[in-house]
Order: sequence, then C-alpha cells, then structure tokens
Amino acid sequence: MQLAGKTVLLTGASGGIGRCLALQLAQAGARLILVGRGLKTLEALCASLAPVDQPHRTLVADLRQQSEREALAVICSDLQVDILINNAGAGEFNWLEDSSSEAITDLLELNLNVPIQLTRLLLPVLKTRPEAAVINIGSALGSIGYPGYSVYSASKFGLRGFSEALRRELADTAVQVMHLSPRATRTALNSNRVVAMNEAMGVAMDAPEYVARTLVERIREDRWSAQVLGWPERFYAWVNACAPAMTDGSIRKQLARIRGFAQNSDNRQGRKAGVSHTGEAS
Ligand SMILES: NC(=O)c1ccc[n+]([C@@H]2O[C@H](COP(=O)([O-])OP(=O)(O)OC[C@H]3O[C@@H](n4cnc5c(N)ncnc54)[C@H](OP(=O)(O)O)[C@@H]3O)[C@@H](O)[C@H]2O)c1
Repeated sequence: MQLAGKTVLLTGASGGIGRCLALQLAQAGARLILVGRGLKTLEALCASLAPVDQPHRTLVADLRQQSEREALAVICSDLQVDILINNAGAGEFNWLEDSSSEAITDLLELNLNVPIQLTRLLLPVLKTRPEAAVINIGSALGSIGYPGYSVYSASKFGLRGFSEALRRELADTAVQVMHLSPRATRTALNSNRVVAMNEAMGVAMDAPEYVARTLVERIREDRWSAQVLGWPERFYAWVNACAPAMTDGSIRKQLARIRGFAQNSDNRQGRKAGVSHTGEAS
C-alpha cells in the first residue's frame, strides 16, 4: 500500500513505539492524526514531523472513555481516515494474586476493549476508502503465555483473536487487517525491573525505531499476515502453538527467577497506584 497521501489515525502516539511510528509514517508521506492524553507532548511531536500535503493533527483523548472515542470517530470520519493503528497500551508484570481488581479491569479495557470499540466506530469511514487498513499492535506475549503476564497475555491473546477473525470478516472488502507482535522493546512500558530481568535472562530487547521501520515496510509491501517479530521469539511462538507442554517445561525451570523479579517489593509498591507501565519480557 502506498503511504503517500494516506491519513493515519495513530493511538499511543506519545509513547516509545508510537513516536517512532509517527516520524517514519510522516517521512513516508502519510498525514498523521496523533492521539494521546497529553497535549504538549503531542504538539511537540506534531511539530517535528515531516510536512505533507495536508497538515498533521493532534487529538487529546482518554481512549478508555466511550464518549471520547465517539468524538474521535466523528472527527476521523470528517478527515477521511484510511488507516487506523491501534497502538496505545499498557503493561503489567505481576503475579495474578498481587494484581488489584481495578488494575486488571483497566488493562483489559485499554489493551483489548479500546481497539475493538475504536475499530467498530471507524469501520464505516474505512469502508468508504479505496484502500484502507486496521493495524493492531499485539505482542509476542499474545502468542506465548509467560508468568507474571497473565492479564497482559490475556489482553494480547484476545487482540490476536480479534484481528484474525476481523481479517476474515473483511476479506471481501478493501480493508486490510494486520496484527503485528513485537517482542520486548526499549520503551517506558518496561520498568527497570523488567529490563533487569530481561538482561539477566538473556531476553533481547528491540529498539522502537526497528519496530516502527518493520511496520512501515510491511504496509508498503502489502504484507498483512500476522507475525511475531524477532528470533528466537517467532520460533518459540510456533513451538508453543504446536507443543505447549514443551514450553511449560522450559518456563518451569525459570519460574523461581521470574517470581523473584515479579514479587520484588518495589514492584508491589508501584502497582498500588493502578495500572503501571511495568512491562514486557518475551
Ligand atoms: N515496549 C514493549 O516491550 C512492547 C512489546 C510488545 C508490544 N508492545 C505494545 O506496543 C504498544 C505501544 O507500547 P509502548 O512500548 O510504546 O508503550 P509506552 O511507551 O508506554 O506508550 C503507551 C502509549 O499508550 C498511550 N495511552 C495509555 N493509556 C491511554 C489512554 N487511556 N488513552 C489514550 N492513550 C493512552 C500513552 O499515551 P499518554 O500516556 O500520553 O496518554 C502512550 O502513548 C502497546 O500496545 C504495547 O502493548 C510493547
């Protein structure tokens, strides 16, 4: 798909991956509608984007609020959005019994219900466009359940299922559906404790620029199929799908170490504030 001249609604634009995506999409000629909760951050990003024919826009919205999603959809209809990128998300690295009920609800809302509802609201305008796409940013943990990530994995497994079914539902329309699953990536979503765990356990962490570059290439090359980014994570996802007991066995050997990072007292403190950006291993 040609990106020049396309209008892209990007959620989570102020975050690590979102910011890199905005810069690279604008470089490719797309006009951006940047969504987040902080006006100043969005405006600074907007000012740094490569100029295109029509001006880039910022839209402040708390996507957990249905009324704000509806207001966003009205504006997007007027602006004739071609591509929706559901990128906003939060992380949670916690043993389940240590997670608060509110934190679980908030995370499932943002990571799963928000992209589904936003897609539903935008489909009418996307279906009027000659070429359109819904792109959902999942996670390697949406293919491999990992201790400490039971709620996050639930949200990302759900997003993967939603994307697969929707792709098949829209197969006779001009709306493409892509589900991209980055592995651990260096952004604020990952706390110092998660970074320390990843380093201790030899888990690779990608640069957000790499994730953004890969996504932009895939759009340009019309590669819409679902994919986990990076080796060996893509291989692990395949093994887990074919022989989950094998993955159970290898993760069981690491369980005590993982628990040590998840149940660290600093991590518990952070959680009391609600859904925290406490990150992603893979
Ligand atoms: N980092 C990783 O290791 C990793 C790996 C695999 C997949 N992912 C996925 O990649 C996506 C982007 O993550 P990231 O690493 O870039 O995280 P990040 O840097 O923490 O950014 C998260 C973004 O979500 C936005 N957001 C949070 N709550 C929101 C709300 N209620 N309404 C509107 N926007 C909200 C934040 O915007 P404001 O706070 O400004 O509103 C921010 O722009 C997520 O879906 C994540 O699950 C990340």
